[in-house]
Parts: sequence; structure tokens; C-alpha cells
Amino acid sequence: MDYKMGYRVKDIRLAEQGRKQLEWAQMHMPTLMGIKKELAASKPFKGRRIVMMLHITKETGVLARTVQAAGARIALVAGNPLSTQDDVAAELAKEGIMVYAWRGQDESAYYENMRKALEIKPEIIMDDGADMHAMVHQEYRNLKIIGGTEETTTGIVRLKAMEVEKVLRYPVIAVNNAYTKYLFDNRYGTGQSGLDGIIRATNIMISGKVAVVAGYGWVGKGVAMRLKGHGARVIVTEVDPFKALEAVMDGFEVKRMSQAAGEADLFVTATGDKNVVTYSHMKMMKEGAIMANVGHFDVEIDVKTLRSRARSERELRSHLREFKLENGTRIYLLSEGRLTNLDAAEGHPSEVMDLSFANQVLGALHILKNHGKLENKVYNPPPETDERIARIKLEAMGIEIDALTNEQKEYLSQWRYGT
Ligand SMILES: NC(=O)c1ccc[n+]([C@@H]2O[C@H](COP(=O)([O-])OP(=O)(O)OC[C@H]3O[C@@H](n4cnc5c(N)ncnc54)[C@H](O)[C@@H]3O)[C@@H](O)[C@H]2O)c1
Repeated sequence: MDYKMGYRVKDIRLAEQGRKQLEWAQMHMPTLMGIKKELAASKPFKGRRIVMMLHITKETGVLARTVQAAGARIALVAGNPLSTQDDVAAELAKEGIMVYAWRGQDESAYYENMRKALEIKPEIIMDDGADMHAMVHQEYRNLKIIGGTEETTTGIVRLKAMEVEKVLRYPVIAVNNAYTKYLFDNRYGTGQSGLDGIIRATNIMISGKVAVVAGYGWVGKGVAMRLKGHGARVIVTEVDPFKALEAVMDGFEVKRMSQAAGEADLFVTATGDKNVVTYSHMKMMKEGAIMANVGHFDVEIDVKTLRSRARSERELRSHLREFKLENGTRIYLLSEGRLTNLDAAEGHPSEVMDLSFANQVLGALHILKNHGKLENKVYNPPPETDERIARIKLEAMGIEIDALTNEQKEYLSQWRYGT
């Protein structure tokens, strides 16, 4: 593989298969397709250079096609070494997008590909996890970037830290903070694709198992809900008293990880935090316990210590490794501790990414239209955009909702009426 063709993918001959995958995704992404039609006519991104660093799935392919149809020149790289769908990457490369990504790329290729993408001198950066935002801030300070978008919770945490330190050099739209993103993608998307990954990697029966979900944020809620739906007894671990209380009221047991570690068959981390499952927890686990992560980075389960301390390690099935601990217990890790829903399964269903990626493209458009007016801050997506996306989605689903009457609007805007 080399870069001389203007792309670097696993095998360009996979393009036809990728084209079919994209066709299937497009059928389930009516919101984004509607926006694409509109932008293909007006071409607001004409001549603009955009670097996209996202999980290269068929849904991201539909987003890339949309931004391309709106006139942009795109370089696309993977937001995770294990999440690229090589057939989709091949088709996008054929369609003239500069794709530098393949499934299983190592860490040095991950960074080399990022650098290659930056050669187009982007004006806008669309990121997932903020690795690209961090790289341009640290090493590419001469680039004239007018702004960016950020897909996920973890990326926003990093960008907010940059804002607080006053080092953020351009405005960023926090796509994750749209209602039409986190309420659906994080919760229902990961709820489904997280379980899909666990089931594809293990084919275990969820029903009757004891499962621990670490973190009861939007992602954790979705995963806990779906595990419960499959018949698991779910224990939640939290550090936030409100979320812990919410989990209790939703009918889950809440415990410390150290209390739950010896009890569960399955552990799923969804915190965005590090060392949530430590090696001391692992030593308490039952024979056959399985650990999976759906949080953004591979630091939630302490894989490093596990690797250094385990007596032996082997791959037993795709996406599933067995570790024999010093005490003789065998425990199992999915997807190397990386996002299992994107490694062992295909990521979120198209229907939900339809909402998230409508926010990505409209977020980038907001950056472009308001260039010069925005400060170097992390902004929530404009509420009118968020509402527009929800309405288009409902319409595409054939669902009509009521509208406030003038009398109701008046009633809801005053304080004098009472009993
Ligand atoms: N797998 C995916 O496709 C996908 C999709 C969306 C978001 N994410 C990622 O998932 C992670 C969680 O996202 P979210 O939107 O649910 O965030 P969130 O902020 O809503 O929730 C995270 C929760 O974890 C809790 N937490 C933090 N440290 C903890 C610890 N040590 N033990 C127990 N709980 C702890 C927090 O109190 C919080 O309630 C992030 O890394 C995000 O980027 C992944």
C-alpha cells in the first residue's frame, strides 16, 4: 500500500461491495439524503477543504458523499484503528475522496494517515474523539482552520479543557450535545450496536447472565436497558450520585465495581474515563467472565496491566482474547478493549446515524456561515438546526405531531393564570 494513488485503503477491488453497502445505508438515512439534495444544488462548501476523522462505516460514507456533493474536497481518515469498513473505504476512494484508512492499522499508520490528510490544508475539521483537533493544535499551528465539529462526548471533554486553558484556536460545534444526537445515537445506537458486538464476538446467551454496566450516562443507559431487555440481571456502577440514583429508580442494582467484580459474567464499560476495570477487579472475577468496552478510548479496562500480568494470552475467536491470570482464572476481553460495537459489529444502525450526521453537516455549515462571528469556543449546535432535524426525521417516518394553538402559546407564556 502507498499513497501515490491519492488514497490508501486495504484493497480497492472491494469497491463494488462497498457501493452496495452505501446503497443500503442511504435507504435508511432520509434526513441526510434530504440535506444532500438541498446542498448539492446550492454547493455551500464549493472549493472548501475538509478533513474528516470518523469511524469509516457505511453511514460515514453517506456523510462524506453529502459533504462532497455540497462542493467540498475531502480527506478522510479513521477515528479508530479497528473501525474501518474496508469495502466502504475502497468505494469512497474510487469516488474521489482521499481516504487513508484500513481496518487493523497500527498506531504509527494511524498518525501517518492523519498527517497525510492534513496535506490538503483543511479549513474545517470534522472529528470524533478530538485526536485530529489535538494534533493540529500541537503540531500544525500554521494551518488556517476556520472551525470544526466534534462527534462524541470524550472529544468534547478534551475540547472544553482546551477552551478552559485558552488554547483553542477556532470555534467547534459540539455535535454530541444536540438532542438529536445524544438522546438517540449514544443511547439507542450504542444500546443496540454494543449488544450486537458482544453477541457477534461471543454468541453467549444474555438471558440469565449477570452483567455490570460501568457508567450510567447516555451510553450506559442504552446498554443497561438493552441488556435488561435480553433478560440479564444488570448491576450499574457510577461515581455521580444523581446518575446512581437514576439507575436505582430505573430498577437496576447499583454497587461499587469492587463489590460487583466477583458476581458478574459480563462487564461493559461506558464511562469515557480510565482504569474503571482494574487488574485488582479482574483478579476477583469469575472463571469465564467477559469484558467489553463501548466508551471512546481503550483505557477504560486496564488492558496494559492485564497483558503484563497474565500468565498467558491467546485469541480464541475473532474479536475475543482469553487471558489466564496468575491465580489460574481465565477471563475474556473483546476487541482489545476498544469500541466493541465498531470492531465486532458494524457500529450504529443507519437510522440513528442519520440524525448524528445531519448534525455534523449542518454544524460544519454553521461554522462556514458564521466565520468571523464565532469565538474560539465549544458551541452547542444551534437549537433551530436540532429541531429541524427532528422534524425532518419524524416526517420521513410518517409521524405527525400536534402544534401549539395561539391560545396555548399565550397560556404557556404568562404567569397570571392559576387555580
Ligand atoms: N460506542 C459508541 O459508538 C459511542 C457512542 C457515543 C458515545 N461514546 C463514548 O461513550 C462514552 C460515554 O459517553 P456518554 O455520552 O454516555 O457520556 P456521559 O458523560 O453521559 O456518561 C458517562 C458516565 O460515566 C460515569 N463515570 C465516569 N467515571 C466513572 C467511573 N470511574 N465509574 C463509573 N462511572 C463513571 C459518569 O459519572 C457519567 O455518568 C464516551 O467516551 C463517549 O465518547 C461511544
